[in-house]
Amino acid sequence: MKFIKADTYEELSKIAANIIASQVIMKPDCVLGLATGSSPLGTYANLAKMYEAGDLDFSNVTTVNLDEYAGLDGTHEQSYRYFMNRNLFSKINVDIEKTYVPNGIASDLVKEGLNYDELIQSLGGIDLQLLGIGVDGHIGFNEPDSVFVAETHPVKLDESTIEANARFFATKEDVPSQAITMGMRSIMQARKILLVANGKNKKAILERAINGPIDPMVPASILQLHSDVTVIFSEI
Ligand code: F6R
Repeated sequence: MKFIKADTYEELSKIAANIIASQVIMKPDCVLGLATGSSPLGTYANLAKMYEAGDLDFSNVTTVNLDEYAGLDGTHEQSYRYFMNRNLFSKINVDIEKTYVPNGIASDLVKEGLNYDELIQSLGGIDLQLLGIGVDGHIGFNEPDSVFVAETHPVKLDESTIEANARFFATKEDVPSQAITMGMRSIMQARKILLVANGKNKKAILERAINGPIDPMVPASILQLHSDVTVIFSEI
């Protein structure tokens, strides 16, 4: 595992964007696994700038997102589909038909998960997966559990995740209690993984994930078993 300590969030975002940009340059028809949340916002802004400057072409790129809230459709401002459209897809020349986010309003979320994994397989897997990390160690919405779940699957969100994400909603009660998330198989089969984390509140869990035992109660610890992981962390 490669660990990069950035001095600031801006530096973290530049390094992360450069790593993703090099993936797109090396393989213009790559499959990017993408994340939402506050951590990748700077990375996406930098990618949009590179595109505007004429340095990047996303026209052959396919994207697959990690997760979506259950019950929110893509027009809901807090849905992850809406987030991706607003913060990245509308700012670059990706073909929107080749951007995938799990469907949070599917009538059968278990089936939706299995279809999502099949889709990822049919695309040839993920070339580079971008991840954030929750304060409880979650990646995607794979919350602490007694087992690592392989498939894309519905999950009940932990209280700490609901509290952390309440900042985006009018009230904590508005945060959906369930979500659908890519499982560990598709994440771990990604050829490269890039995890971005910033803020003092992520330091302890990152330390446990990188140096502690591999334990489904710290979901990100599974990344220790992957051969090409880069973690970029900034305290501020
Ligand atoms: C979002 C996702 C989550 C976030 C994590 C950190 O698609 O998969 O695992 O990466 O909750 O969120 P932030 O970056 O907001 O601290």
